[in-house]
Amino acid sequence: TVVVLDFGGQYNQLIARRIRELNVFSELLPHDTPIETLRAMKLKGIIFSGGPQSVYRDSAPLVDPSIYELGVPILGICYGMQLLARDFNAHVTQASAREYGLTELSCHSHATLFAGTPATQRVWMSHGDMVVEVPQGFRVDAYTSSAPVAAMSDPSRKLYGVQFHPEVQHTDYGQDLLRQFLFRVCECAGDWRMDNFVEESITALRDTVKDARVLMALSGGVDSSVTAALLHRAIGDRLTCVFVDHGLLRKDESEQVMEMLSGTFHMDIRLVNARTRFLALLDGVSDPEEKRKRIGREFIAVFDETATSLGSFAFLGQGTLYTDIVESGTKTAATIKSHHNVGGLPEDMAFKLIEPLKTLFKDEVRALGEELGLPHAFVYRQPFPGPGLAIRIMGEITPTRIATLQNADAILREEIALAGLQDSIWQYFAVLTGVRSVGVMGDERTYAETIALRAVTSRDGMTADFAHIPYDVLGKISNRICNEVHGINRVVYDVTSKPPATIEWE
Ligand code: XMP
Repeated sequence: TVVVLDFGGQYNQLIARRIRELNVFSELLPHDTPIETLRAMKLKGIIFSGGPQSVYRDSAPLVDPSIYELGVPILGICYGMQLLARDFNAHVTQASAREYGLTELSCHSHATLFAGTPATQRVWMSHGDMVVEVPQGFRVDAYTSSAPVAAMSDPSRKLYGVQFHPEVQHTDYGQDLLRQFLFRVCECAGDWRMDNFVEESITALRDTVKDARVLMALSGGVDSSVTAALLHRAIGDRLTCVFVDHGLLRKDESEQVMEMLSGTFHMDIRLVNARTRFLALLDGVSDPEEKRKRIGREFIAVFDETATSLGSFAFLGQGTLYTDIVESGTKTAATIKSHHNVGGLPEDMAFKLIEPLKTLFKDEVRALGEELGLPHAFVYRQPFPGPGLAIRIMGEITPTRIATLQNADAILREEIALAGLQDSIWQYFAVLTGVRSVGVMGDERTYAETIALRAVTSRDGMTADFAHIPYDVLGKISNRICNEVHGINRVVYDVTSKPPATIEWE
């Protein structure tokens, strides 16, 4: 294992993921993970990640200095390199010119991490501080026009630092650099595969659960389905799955999901109809975070009651992914939105959570689903958020507005399928915007709501681009929605990427 210690950058998990792409297992841990934990992991390498802080501030996140006595190779990236410099008594200051974006890097031929790559290359920089001179025993490996130390190393102590971000796709030779670190410096074997992940997870799940029972929150989406399949392999019939119909699903979804689940899985699956209580709970609520928190709490309340009626369960299984965690905010990362299964959870929960996928990205979960033999249609279902249509209805949620959105969304899905676009678009849905505008229909004035269509392409949901759907397909969808869905007189297409927008509207 190679561990990435997290100092708070939004994309830190990408480092772990790039390492897994090179067939070395890697995970992200908090920067203050106890040294005994790290020692027990028999690590091959350690990476210090980037982060928003300055190493010379009092509030700067640091590491236990005895980490340098483990004898494990260390690579510091951005903030991580500045931390190495600080810990070995070199000077880190605020740079006179911030470097942000693509920068030309010049590297020295002696530098191990740059072996086999050109002497000048493009790298992605994003920093306000810089290392001015290397600590004693270190040498400069690369520089840019404004950073005298853009990479440094002390090969005898196996300490390496780079100011730029090798994990970002814009850094031309970033993956080569990581490869050098993993295989030349850390001497990793490079034999990790998804099937190892299955085996290791099953062993870990058995160790954690022991003889207890697990209640699994199953939504029919790929994340919870893959989690259920993994848990079922680990603990067999001590697993009970619960699918909650909160009334905020897509049109006819509840029936379709139950049919699909019972056709695929041979496990205990219960449907709970909670439509009335969710609707009551959301009555008069318009604030997005408030919606998310109420839904998160109510999900747990439903699971609690179901568990009580079925016997005793020590654990609640959830299909939480890394994206859900980082966007909900961590000790070092900012809150973007509270995912219902993370930031929306009550503090006094009776269950212990079990979340075997929480280090993975969506596309890795899909690979895992295939490894577990789940049907293609399952593995490639488009993502659907736990809070469902609640976060696609701007403003108040009423039965009429839910039905309006369901009908518009069904038309969008039908037309995307007819045009054969469903496999090339990552996610597509309709949003009830809450904007009313004037229209004319059959010589009459209308004053009705606007539907926004949202369709994006993405690899892992962390970043996304709007899908370039042909105009005639958009035109047909618009026409049908205005004609067939009562209460809608205008349709618009959302042409924003993520960032600066997010995929969902709330
Ligand atoms: P955003 O809107 O954050 O969405 O760009 C990224 C991906 O996550 C899904 N999403 C959620 N999934 N619970 C979930 O299970 C949530 O609370 C939640 N919020 C967003 C969203 O549909 C997209 O695929």
